[in-house]
Amino acid sequence: MAISMGKFFLFMLLSFVFIEAAPESALITQVPGFGGTLPSKHYSGYVTINESHGKNLFYYFVVSERNSSEDPVVLWLNGGPGCSSFDGFVYEHGPFNFQAGKTGSLPQLHLNPYSWSKISNIIYLDSPAGVGLSYSKNKTDYNTGDLKTASDTHTFLLKWFEQYPEFLSNPFYIAGESYAGVYVPTLASEVVKGLDAGLKPILNFKGYIVGNGVTDEEFDGNALVPFAHGMGLISDELFEEVKAACPESYYESSNESCESKLKKVDQDISDLNIYDILEPCYHSPQIREIGTGNSRLPTSFRQLGETERPLAVRTRMFGRAWPLRAPVRDGIVPTWPQIMNSNNVPCTDDEVATSWLNNEAVRKAIHAEQESTIGTWELCTGNILFHHDAGSMIKYHRNLTIRGYRALIFSGDHDMCVPYTGSEAWTRSLGYKVVDEWRPWTSNGQVAGYIQGYENNLSFLTVKGSGHTVPEYKPREALDFYGRWLAGKPI
Ligand SMILES: *[C@@H]1O[C@H](CO)[C@@H](O)[C@H](O)[C@H]1NC(C)=O
Ligand SMILES: *[C@@H]1O[C@H](CO)[C@@H](O)[C@H](O)[C@H]1NC(C)=O
Ligand SMILES: *[C@@H]1O[C@H](CO)[C@@H](O)[C@H](O)[C@H]1NC(C)=O
Ligand SMILES: *[C@@H]1O[C@H](CO)[C@@H](O)[C@H](O)[C@H]1NC(C)=O
Ligand SMILES: *[C@@H]1O[C@H](CO)[C@@H](O)[C@H](O)[C@H]1NC(C)=O
Ligand SMILES: *[C@@H]1O[C@H](CO)[C@@H](O)[C@H](O)[C@H]1NC(C)=O
Repeated sequence: MAISMGKFFLFMLLSFVFIEAAPESALITQVPGFGGTLPSKHYSGYVTINESHGKNLFYYFVVSERNSSEDPVVLWLNGGPGCSSFDGFVYEHGPFNFQAGKTGSLPQLHLNPYSWSKISNIIYLDSPAGVGLSYSKNKTDYNTGDLKTASDTHTFLLKWFEQYPEFLSNPFYIAGESYAGVYVPTLASEVVKGLDAGLKPILNFKGYIVGNGVTDEEFDGNALVPFAHGMGLISDELFEEVKAACPESYYESSNESCESKLKKVDQDISDLNIYDILEPCYHSPQIREIGTGNSRLPTSFRQLGETERPLAVRTRMFGRAWPLRAPVRDGIVPTWPQIMNSNNVPCTDDEVATSWLNNEAVRKAIHAEQESTIGTWELCTGNILFHHDAGSMIKYHRNLTIRGYRALIFSGDHDMCVPYTGSEAWTRSLGYKVVDEWRPWTSNGQVAGYIQGYENNLSFLTVKGSGHTVPEYKPREALDFYGRWLAGKPI
């Protein structure tokens, strides 16, 4: 009896230690700009992934508001390369909606009814070092690429789960958007290699999610012309002419007549907001006046892109964006600031995020280094030199899905940056049997997009009327498909 009581107390003690293992010092006790009570615990801080270099990755972890011991853990990555995952946190599916403050004052934070933390434990990670709030004391680390980023993020995961062992048994997923179409499968592949090699701790990896993801030079490069035609942005005649003049490739021409047709395509689409062809384009305050009052877009057309966003935190206006016909190729991938020779990402408003994340009290509250130490937070940085050195992602997707990992590939169907036409084509090109034939899926009693299910747990899904960053444009629909897919239910 005495022995078993002793065992019982030891068990109680161990389970207490176990359950409370999340580092107390990482707990966020107050969030500047937010007046209410947090619906779940938030943790944040740095994980040092290379001691001798002082290489530190910053994460913000939001515990599930439903059942944290049962709900999956999801790692979220934004792309760029060079963009901070606070883009996802502030503008997409984070726990708060940010309302711009008056000039010079902090934004006001309200709870986001469509936060992905409603149903999952979610880690927002700034990666690689040099991006967002992540940094290295040795600047040679800012010259990096796909493979190094994947292995560093894997190191981060192993160390993170060591600090949060109570989440090791939850199903674990990796998710991301845009250039994270490269980060996600390369990281997933590192995780699987780690599991094969018996690395500890053992991650309960189940699958991954990619939204409007960069995947393959040819599929992505050839996606634009059919997209522009299908969306009514170029004429039937021009489409026929391009097809005839450019039989090999719609993005690269060795032939003058093809090049001149592609230039005509460029002219037709060049003033659109590349991230959502229905939306106007935002201009930073310095150049905002130029665009104000631009009435080229009729109101009825603008309203096509309107959504249930509780707060339209980004106003957008008309203008130019990403260089057209420029799929990601092997070699150096220019970051946004490097392309634009300025720190602004075209058409994209980063004002609330920039003011919040560069505020001294906010940095302190979320355990981030101050601006004086690591510099200004930028939505997308030009501080890194990034090499696309992993090639096409198709071989990664094939390996992962054949091994039984679940994959959801989704596309906002009005994005012209990584158009759905490319994602639809590459998923189909795997040659997997269709097990759930193309059909509408619904949210709130309305058709929200289309889905095609393949064997090997691969699904391709579109979100109707959404731009590049789906949860930003269609938060309710995004939470719906995300929740159903994570639960393994039909979407
Ligand atoms: C830290 O980074 C350097 C340079 O990449 C590498 O040589 C070294 O092995 C790393 N140290 C650890 C502990 O990973
Ligand atoms: C959460 O899930 C666990 C495991 O299924 C269960 O034991 C627990 O009661 C649930 N907690 C809540 C608050 O529902
Ligand atoms: C930075 O890292 C490089 C590569 O590991 C190393 O050669 C160099 O000595 C380091 N610099 C400093 C200041 O530690
Ligand atoms: C360009 O390619 C098309 C299709 O292959 C061909 O018909 C045409 O003659 C070529 N034009 C030139 C200038 O080479
Ligand atoms: C895919 O799997 C094969 C066989 O296990 C392996 O040799 C190859 O390196 C893998 N490729 C990738 C990109 O993971
Ligand atoms: C994955 O797909 C296989 C067949 O392709 C099926 O047997 C299995 O149940 C699926 N797993 C999940 C979790 O959906």
